[in-house]
Amino acid sequence: MSLHDHEESQAMNLNPDLELILSDFSSRFGHGSLVPHEVKAWMDAQMQRPQVYLEHASYDDEGYSRNVLFETKQTELVLVGWQAGQETPKHDHEGRSCSFMVLSGDIEEVRFDSSGHVSAQLKHQARDIVQISDPTAIHQMACRQGRALSLHIYSPPMG
Ligand SMILES: [Fe+2]
Repeated sequence: MSLHDHEESQAMNLNPDLELILSDFSSRFGHGSLVPHEVKAWMDAQMQRPQVYLEHASYDDEGYSRNVLFETKQTELVLVGWQAGQETPKHDHEGRSCSFMVLSGDIEEVRFDSSGHVSAQLKHQARDIVQISDPTAIHQMACRQGRALSLHIYSPPMG
């Protein structure tokens, strides 16, 4: 099952603040080799300006909305807009590193062990950062009420 069923390619008019953020992101992480604590520190810093991301949030009644803000062959930065009831399929990341931070709202995450049984049920709220380094990790994410916005970094890109 594709994670990109609801992806839309958008002609983005970026505001200058977001252009600066993406230029900073590009110089730090555009070439891959992501160091988890550096990614975490960068994500933490984004909470100083959540409004920049909120301005670029998109939502789709058909499913969660995936807005690729930046992509190289090595790294991808994606803003995901969620509405109540929207969820990802159960998925792994095919060996990619994956980090995400909740910018607003609440996101539920269910993790599964290798035999498919639930190993953890987590609730994430604004400022929470999750870093998945286990290449075999399987999870599912969902928004259960209201709207939520989250920022995801993948290396290499989910493509
Ligand atoms: Fe995921």
